Amino acid sequence: MIGFSFLMGTIFALSQHFLYRWLHHNLMEDEKDKFRVVLAGRALAYLAKVAFGGCVILVFRQRIWRTFREHALSVLTIDQFFGATEDPSLFMNTEALYTAPVLVMIAAVIWIIPLATIIFSPGALTFGNFVELKSASQQVPTMDFTAEGLTDWRYPVPVGNGSTSKRSLMYYNTTDVQAKTPGWFDYYDQPSAELKRIALLMAYSTNEYPNVKATGRQDACGGNANCTYEQSFVAPGYQCEEVTDRALDLGAPFNTSVLVPNGRNLYHAEVDHGAYLQPQNAVFEDGPGGIPIGEPPEDLGVFKSEPYLWIGYAVNSTVRLASDDPFIRNWTHRYVPHIVRCTHMETKYTVTWNWTEPLFHTTVQREYLNPIVNTELTRLGNGSISGDPQPSSNYISPRDDVARYKRVASYHAVGSMFRQFIRGTVDLVAPLPGPSYALVYSDITKTRLVQPNVHPKENLTKELESFYTDLVLSIFSTPDMLVISNETSVVNRTLIHSSFIYVPIRLWQCYAPVIFVTLLILLFGALTIWEDGTTFSVGFSRILVTTRNTTLDHISRGACLGNDPFPVELMHTQLRFGAVGGGGSAGDGLGHQGPGHCAFGVDSEVAPIERGVPYAGLRQRTKKSEA
Ligand SMILES: *[C@@H]1O[C@H](CO)[C@@H](O)[C@H](O)[C@H]1NC(C)=O
Ligand SMILES: *[C@@H]1O[C@H](CO)[C@@H](O)[C@H](O)[C@H]1NC(C)=O
Ligand SMILES: *[C@@H]1O[C@H](CO)[C@@H](O)[C@H](O)[C@H]1NC(C)=O
Ligand SMILES: *[C@@H]1O[C@H](CO)[C@@H](O)[C@H](O)[C@H]1NC(C)=O
Ligand SMILES: *[C@@H]1O[C@H](CO)[C@@H](O)[C@H](O)[C@H]1NC(C)=O
Ligand SMILES: *[C@@H]1O[C@H](CO)[C@@H](O)[C@H](O)[C@H]1NC(C)=O
Ligand SMILES: *[C@@H]1O[C@H](CO)[C@@H](O)[C@H](O)[C@H]1NC(C)=O
Repeated sequence: MIGFSFLMGTIFALSQHFLYRWLHHNLMEDEKDKFRVVLAGRALAYLAKVAFGGCVILVFRQRIWRTFREHALSVLTIDQFFGATEDPSLFMNTEALYTAPVLVMIAAVIWIIPLATIIFSPGALTFGNFVELKSASQQVPTMDFTAEGLTDWRYPVPVGNGSTSKRSLMYYNTTDVQAKTPGWFDYYDQPSAELKRIALLMAYSTNEYPNVKATGRQDACGGNANCTYEQSFVAPGYQCEEVTDRALDLGAPFNTSVLVPNGRNLYHAEVDHGAYLQPQNAVFEDGPGGIPIGEPPEDLGVFKSEPYLWIGYAVNSTVRLASDDPFIRNWTHRYVPHIVRCTHMETKYTVTWNWTEPLFHTTVQREYLNPIVNTELTRLGNGSISGDPQPSSNYISPRDDVARYKRVASYHAVGSMFRQFIRGTVDLVAPLPGPSYALVYSDITKTRLVQPNVHPKENLTKELESFYTDLVLSIFSTPDMLVISNETSVVNRTLIHSSFIYVPIRLWQCYAPVIFVTLLILLFGALTIWEDGTTFSVGFSRILVTTRNTTLDHISRGACLGNDPFPVELMHTQLRFGAVGGGGSAGDGLGHQGPGHCAFGVDSEVAPIERGVPYAGLRQRTKKSEA
């Protein structure tokens, strides 16, 4: 029984472990199911307690008799030993502690086992959030400007159920709406309404990030998750460089003399030199479509050049002017002029999207591939532009490679929206004689490119590039655009789930000591049984047969009801378990010669019980049962 109890206890503990391990990170939606499995775990903990406790109790009962034999103990102590499993007053009993410390310890273990098993072991299973990391291939939105090139506005590309169609970034004029005349072609007119809306929203939002769809994270991450992924695509980009020192060599249309403190301009941008003509140089029929009268001019719709952005701005260096400075009449602090040139480039973007609630973050690498229209304007000595940009072989004509023309046109459309925000000037009236104030002739002050005091940001070169990047990325906010498509990408998703969390160490911190101590007690019990040669128990029948001693009758006279309180002097009588009435004494009243029988008695009348001795009736009983 002892061994079996121990085995069962171990099995129950293991079952609890495996149940919890199964529950670990197991997504369970139904509250009733959660309730059931928690109860099942506790039931196993309880069964383990019963089994381990049973094992220890059996050993305790075995060992109790050894103590009674070895020591004369007060009736009170004997009582407390019998009741040790329900009544903790044994642990206050100094007599018990002195005479049988091991037994008291075993009794203590009986009390501690439920604590470890029932109370603490279910604590290994908690409920909480866990973060699931998963890499999966899934559809994410991407940008593909070749789609513009491959689409004819006459044949709309349906979207979803077909009630709407994809939107282009630009509007076209044409030489023939019916597309029947030989040599007909479409040519660029202007940015489309959708692109204008996207650009205005982004530019005026003054956010430091692109505009995205409200559900951008769910769409990209495939449900309510956080995720990151990287993607590459080719789109227009502006490459800006500071050219303050060599602006005139590069053909800048202005020099630093227009900028504060020499001039009035705090900001000065010329962004339209050589831009696509609006309207084109032709005589149009009445009505829409920009259909030229007669033979279309040779250069109708041709992109001859893409304008450089020439941007001058002055930065308040916050250094006070020296008293002999030529500008001291009107200025208090030194202003440093800068000139920046930006080139519109076909750019390979590598974007890392980090969608983490509640925001998102993009890390963008730009690799500039080639100028969108690779031509240069020639400037005359007096600053005016001479003739057409060169070389003319790099012109992009609507008659040749239509796909390329339309792609370039869409780049141009996005760039023209950007140029719209940054062209113009901002003047600053000098602080002396004062007052100083700014005069704004540009939309740039509505964007994030300026500081609150309308001074352009100091690192404008980088800001211009990233502003344009965010403008391009903002096209993602309208998935109906032609250039937005889907691609398969490896997305690293992090999902936060609520579920059971099992910490095995906590379970085994409870069970390991229990199993170890119980095993020690089990071995101790086995040793005791082997020494005793028999097993013992503490049922009523055992009390009955071990108290048949006339001395006890004398002592307990007047207390035969078993009433409470028991007479105090009786409680303190020392008794011992042993062989009574051996050697032919009148112990059993029958005058038997022999070893007598075993019972409690006062210390002086009992002899030690010896192993193998046939105490009263034991041999006959054995023989009978053998027969
Ligand atoms: C995403 O991450 C944030 C911050 O770590 C967290 O608060 C949020 O719960 C996460 N959302 C999901 C759906 O995992
Ligand atoms: C700057 O331009 C002005 C005319 O716009 C001209 O008078 C001046 O000489 C130029 N400065 C330099 C350094 O070329
Ligand atoms: C396109 O056609 C319209 C209508 O004829 C005209 O107003 C517009 O200027 C044309 N666009 C260009 C770029 O020529
Ligand atoms: C330049 O910066 C200094 C220091 O911040 C400030 O006192 C001064 O007013 C600024 N100049 C102008 C014209 O705003
Ligand atoms: C510079 O200051 C003087 C007097 O202090 C004033 O007469 C002149 O108009 C100012 N010039 C400018 C450009 O404000
Ligand atoms: C994504 O952003 C969150 C919060 O800004 C940050 O904690 C996390 O490390 C980022 N992940 C990556 C892969 O950069
Ligand atoms: C610049 O010079 C060219 C010829 O050399 C002339 O045709 C043009 O009108 C001049 N422009 C200005 C602004 O003086």
